[in-house]
Amino acid sequence: SKKAVLGPLVGAVDQGTSSTRFLVFNSRTAELLSHHQVEIKQEFPREGWVEQDPKEILHCVYECIAKTCEKLGQLNIGISNIKAIGVSNQRETTVVWDKITGEPLYNAVVWLELKTQSTVESLSKRIPGNNNFVKSKTGLPLSTYFSAVKLHWLLDNVRKVQKAVEGKRALFGTIDSWLIWSLTGGVNGGVHCTDVTNASRTMLFNIHSLEWDKQLCEFFGIPMEILPHVRSSSEIYGLMEAGALEGVPISGCSGDQSAALVGQMCFQIGQAKNTYGTGCFLLCNTCHKCVFSDHGLLTTVAYKLGRDKPVYYALEGSVAIAGAVIRWLRDNLGIIKTSEEMEKLAKEVGTSYGSYFVPAFLGLYAPYWEPSARGIICGLTQFTNKCHIAFAALEAVCFHIREILDAMNRDCGIPLSHLQVDGGMTSNKILMQLQADILYIPVVKPLMPETTALGAGAAEGVDVWRLEPEDLSAVTMERFEPQINAEESEICYSTWKKAVMKSMGWVT
Ligand code: G3P
Repeated sequence: SKKAVLGPLVGAVDQGTSSTRFLVFNSRTAELLSHHQVEIKQEFPREGWVEQDPKEILHCVYECIAKTCEKLGQLNIGISNIKAIGVSNQRETTVVWDKITGEPLYNAVVWLELKTQSTVESLSKRIPGNNNFVKSKTGLPLSTYFSAVKLHWLLDNVRKVQKAVEGKRALFGTIDSWLIWSLTGGVNGGVHCTDVTNASRTMLFNIHSLEWDKQLCEFFGIPMEILPHVRSSSEIYGLMEAGALEGVPISGCSGDQSAALVGQMCFQIGQAKNTYGTGCFLLCNTCHKCVFSDHGLLTTVAYKLGRDKPVYYALEGSVAIAGAVIRWLRDNLGIIKTSEEMEKLAKEVGTSYGSYFVPAFLGLYAPYWEPSARGIICGLTQFTNKCHIAFAALEAVCFHIREILDAMNRDCGIPLSHLQVDGGMTSNKILMQLQADILYIPVVKPLMPETTALGAGAAEGVDVWRLEPEDLSAVTMERFEPQINAEESEICYSTWKKAVMKSMGWVT
C-alpha cells in the first residue's frame, strides 16, 4: 500500500500567532509522521498593543524541530530522510533587527494590534492622488493590519530603529524573513528574503509588477534598502545553519493562509478554503486575475510555486478574532481551562439562548474595516449562563464567516457550493455543524487538519514532493450538512447583524 512507501521526508514550520509547530510528512503519501507544537506568548503592554518576542519565536522553532526529530527517532525513522523544509507563517507581523548584532530592535508588532490607528489616520490625510492609490497597487485598504503602517510607526517612535537605519544596520522582515535569515546563519551570512505572498501583505509591494513599489515606500517613509529580496514561494533560499537539521535546504516559503490554500488543493479558479486559526481567513483562488472587491475583501497574492511559474491571486475575507475568542474566555474570563472545554459547554445547552457575542476586541476587519468597533455581548437574561456565552462565541465566528461568504459570492458572481475548512478550531464538531447551518451549504473538512503545513511542505521546490493533486485528493474528508432550514438561519443572522451595528462607534 502507499503507506508502506517511505519516500524522502519534508519538514514544515508552521509559525502562527498562537503557536509554533514543526511537522514532518512523507513526500510520497502526504502522511503526517511526526510533529511538535509550542504555544507562543502574546504581550499586551497597553490597550490595543499586541507584541511578541522575535527571539522566543525563533527559539520555539528550534525547539519544535528538535522535539519532532526526537519523536521520529522513537519511530525508528532517520532524520537524514528529511530533504527539505518549508516555512509558513503568521503574515504582516513586523520585525526590525540589527544585521551586525542579530538583535531585534523592538518586539514583533503583531498583525492584530491597533496601536497604529493614529498613524493610519495621519497617513490617510495625505494619500497622493485619489484614495485608490494604495488599494490599486496593493489590493489592500489602508489599515493597521498591514506591515507598512507598523514599520512607519517603528521608524517614527523607536530610537534604536532610527539609529540602525541611519547606520545602515537595520533589516525589516515579516516573520518568514526573520526566521529564514536566522535559520540560514543570521549574522554569519543569513539570507534576507521573503516570498511574494508575504510581500503582498506588507502594503509596500506592487501586486501587478511583483516588486517593491518606490512610490509606496516614499509614501510610508520606508528606506528601500531595509526590505528583503522577494522570491517565489518555492525555491531554495538557503541551508539550515544549525540544530538537528543542519544543512537541509529551506525551499518553501509562504504566508500561512496561502499555504493552506495550496494544502487544500484549491488550484482552480473559484476554489476556496477557510482556515480557523487565531483569526479566520477565507481565500478564493482567482487564478491569474487580480479581482478587486466592491464588498470589503482584499486582493492578495495566492502563490507562485517556482521562479518561472505564473503568479496566482486570491480574494480574501479576513476576520481578526476566531480562535482568539476562546483564548480570551480562557485567559481573561476563566470560564474554561482548555479550548477543548468549549465544545463541552456549548454542547450542554445547544443554544446561545438569544445572546449574541461580537468579539470585535480590536475593531472589525472584513467586510467592515471599522477600527471603532469593540466587543459586545448582548441579549443577556437572568437565565444566561457561561454555556450560552460559549455557544454565542462559537456562533459569532460562524456568523462572521457568513458575512465574508456573502461578500465573496457577490464579488465572484458564482456562489460557493460548499466550504472547505481547516485549522485548529475545526476539531470542534459543534462549530462545524453551526457553520453549515449558518451558511446553509455543506462544510467539508479533511481528516488530516494540518493543511497549512501540508501546503508549506508541498510548496517545496527541490523536486522532493512528487505528489500530484489527485494523490492529495485521496485525503479523507468529513462533511457537515446544514440541518436547520434556511428561514431559521436567516432570522438568527439578521439579529447578529444588529449586534454588529451595536459594536461600532465605541472609540472616536
Ligand atoms: O494575517 C494573519 C494570519 O496570517 C494569521 O494566521 O493562523 O495565526 O490566525 P493565524
